[in-house]
Amino acid sequence: MFDFESLRGRAVLAPMAGVGDSAFRTVCAESGAACAVTEMVSAKALHYGDENTAALMFIRDAERPCGIQLFGSEPEVIAEGVKIAAEYAPDFIDLNMGCPVPKVTGGGDGSALLREPVLAGRIMEAAVKASPLPVSVKIRTGWDGEHIVAPQFTRMARECGVAAVAVHGRTRAGGYTAPVDFETIAACASEEGVFVIGNGGLNSAADCAEMFAKTGCAAVMVARGALGNPLVFREIAGGERASNAERLELFLRQTRLAVEQKGEFLALRQARKHAGFYLRGMKGAAELRRLGSAVETYAGLETIVRRALG
Ligand SMILES: Cc1cc2nc3c(=O)[nH]c(=O)nc-3n(C[C@H](O)[C@H](O)[C@H](O)COP(=O)(O)O)c2cc1C
Repeated sequence: MFDFESLRGRAVLAPMAGVGDSAFRTVCAESGAACAVTEMVSAKALHYGDENTAALMFIRDAERPCGIQLFGSEPEVIAEGVKIAAEYAPDFIDLNMGCPVPKVTGGGDGSALLREPVLAGRIMEAAVKASPLPVSVKIRTGWDGEHIVAPQFTRMARECGVAAVAVHGRTRAGGYTAPVDFETIAACASEEGVFVIGNGGLNSAADCAEMFAKTGCAAVMVARGALGNPLVFREIAGGERASNAERLELFLRQTRLAVEQKGEFLALRQARKHAGFYLRGMKGAAELRRLGSAVETYAGLETIVRRALG
């Protein structure tokens, strides 16, 4: 059985809807990410047997350990979602209590739960009870600066039997750009008996070292810093910074893996988004992006990238 302790001192890949699919998670794992989490999956959609949702739970052995992340705000629906998700053989189940998107919070899900501690506790309890696997929770520091609840939620998580808490060091109101609140993450990390993962603004080895030093967290979680640069995990583990050639090779490998899973049509369309990340800061990026956006086959994409590599 997976144990969060195996991640101590290491960097893990954050869940990212729309970009954090199995192909991306696999190249991150191969680049040194200690574990990964799927894109968020609606517990309600699982309850209704939605087939598109099943694709989000696909996990390759090469990306393990990997958790499936669920969102929802009804304890019974979450419990059922946990049981269905467990059939897809993840290593753990993660609960989303941090998503700020109005479509999600409007339904009372994601970060809206930060304003409902009693309900959030019932959800954690229901998930732990239903799960044959360890359960983690991902939160933000609070709904806004006047309502910092992460330490309270961390304590509650431990009392409910949750094994790990990932704390994004921003409030819901802080979006994705507010400065990271190390103090609140440190308060969470000082809770005994729960594995706290620090998240927010980690784009380099130095950023991760700062997070460890300022908060005493058990592990760190990288999100946007890995987009277009999975080898950031090698760098964090003390290795070399990725060259442009290495990054482009990984882009091709990620696209091949995506084609394997989703077919060429969908994978090539989704690759355009990732091309934007991989090409960031490279010479000739605009021209490559233009050529890449017209390409319909993996072979065509590879020809363009190989020509750029020289
Ligand atoms: C495109 C994108 C999609 C995201 N999707 C999810 C998600 O599905 N579940 C979740 O808990 N967090 C999600 N997040 C939040 C990240 O996991 C992370 O907490 C946040 O980006 C802060 O980390 P960073 O500063 O390293 O990017 C997403 C973030 C981005 C940028």
